[in-house]
Amino acid sequence: MKKALLAATFGIAAMGPAVADLKLATTKNCMSCHAVERKVLGPSFKDIAARYKGNKAAGDLLATKIIKGGAGVWGPVPMPANNQVSEADSKKLAAWILATP
Ligand code: HEC
Repeated sequence: MKKALLAATFGIAAMGPAVADLKLATTKNCMSCHAVERKVLGPSFKDIAARYKGNKAAGDLLATKIIKGGAGVWGPVPMPANNQVSEADSKKLAAWILATP
């Protein structure tokens, strides 16, 4: 049991940060409403990265919105609060999303 968990952890580390953060986003349920390349219920991470390109405040702005939720930026559909996400994870996710090529 422990061995399997260790192997899984090292497996993720070996895949590099992009895949590790996709894994985090999947674990935190983000990917049920978002996809990297296409709109689902929420905007694609690619579109979000393009929108905030060059905006230095975007990391903090999005990290806060990820936890608290919100509406009106992309359309009428709101994003519910994601209380299961810690502040540290939220910052990590925001940085990863903003780095989408
Ligand atoms: C229930 C569906 C749903 C879930 C779950 C969800 N989102 Fe969203 N997300 C949305 C919608 C809808 C919007 C558009 C909100 C708007 O127009 O302001 C959005 C917007 C965003 C934005 C852009 C915010 C802005 O102001 O431009 C980011 C970044 C984001 N989501 C990240 C995440 C992350 C990270 C998670 C996982 C912790 C997550 N979302 C989970 C539906 C969801």
